[in-house]
Amino acid sequence: MTGAGGLLGGRLAALLHGQGFDVTAAHRHRAPPVGPAPLRVDLAGAPDVERMLDEARPDGVVHAAVISRAADCETRPDEAERVNARLPGLLAEACAGRGLRLVALSTDLVFAGDRSFVSEADPPDPLNEYGRTKRAGEQAVLLGCPRSAVVRVALVLGRGHGSRATSSESVVQALRGGRRVTLFTDEYRTPVDPESVADALARLLQGAATGLFHLGGPERVSRYELGLRVARAFGLPVDGVVPAVQSEHQGPDRRAPDVSLDSSRARRELGYEPRPIDTAIQESRPTRSS
Ligand SMILES: NC(=O)c1ccc[n+]([C@@H]2O[C@H](COP(=O)([O-])OP(=O)(O)OC[C@H]3O[C@@H](n4cnc5c(N)ncnc54)[C@H](OP(=O)(O)O)[C@@H]3O)[C@@H](O)[C@H]2O)c1
Repeated sequence: MTGAGGLLGGRLAALLHGQGFDVTAAHRHRAPPVGPAPLRVDLAGAPDVERMLDEARPDGVVHAAVISRAADCETRPDEAERVNARLPGLLAEACAGRGLRLVALSTDLVFAGDRSFVSEADPPDPLNEYGRTKRAGEQAVLLGCPRSAVVRVALVLGRGHGSRATSSESVVQALRGGRRVTLFTDEYRTPVDPESVADALARLLQGAATGLFHLGGPERVSRYELGLRVARAFGLPVDGVVPAVQSEHQGPDRRAPDVSLDSSRARRELGYEPRPIDTAIQESRPTRSS
């Protein structure tokens, strides 16, 4: 698992380890979870990828290393291009050369968000650098490695790993700290928890399916509604969740209105059954990890 110090990558490494996979947690600065064997590596180029594979000797690779903050991708486009677009290609080439399975994580934000429940057959049309570089990374994986799958994960909620917070954790932590959160009433997602994603990854790693898979949650909700449900679940003041509309957004990145995912391919071919949103919300970490 690359990016095993990350919010989602770290949690997935822990969950797959818990399922009995012999996980090597490849991480850079941030610490991976306790359990999987740690391997520190800066994946700056092809030699680093080869060294990681030589040391870990995996049967398959889950690729989660990323520059994930949309604003960072706008302000540091060279780094976003190197990590999100080119690194997946290097990994794909190395995995193809060794006959390894590669499952790369991607995002709902490869879509422009102009319609609900997009499927794998719908053409991506990213609005920002994050989505654009992630889309380039997807293509590099699928072209470069015959035994590869790309999973587009929706907005993550529930329990994450490390110092970053999932979408539900950021609401709990703000409200508990006496801060208000402003969330869009006109921005729709199908939020999903790491447990559901880990389950799909396990099935992909043990199977042979290739190509694109959408992994969304069981419901399409607005960011604002999600915030209200988090506040209620933790007995926190709902008036701390402040409604706003996307046209009020200030920041370098453009926001997609509706990137809800149709996950029927994963349901059909992997037996994917995402867990209820309210179950995942309960698992959110109420305090910030260091
Ligand atoms: N979180 C979400 O809501 C979400 C939603 C949809 C899709 N995804 C996808 O899920 C995947 C994982 O995301 P995440 O939330 O875990 O991201 P994250 O919290 O930002 O973690 C990314 C990790 O990648 C590592 N990394 C970056 N550049 C690296 C390099 N050159 N060499 C080695 N490691 C490097 C970072 O290391 P450092 O510790 O050194 O910074 C960091 O720990 C990504 O593909 C993302 O697009 C996430």
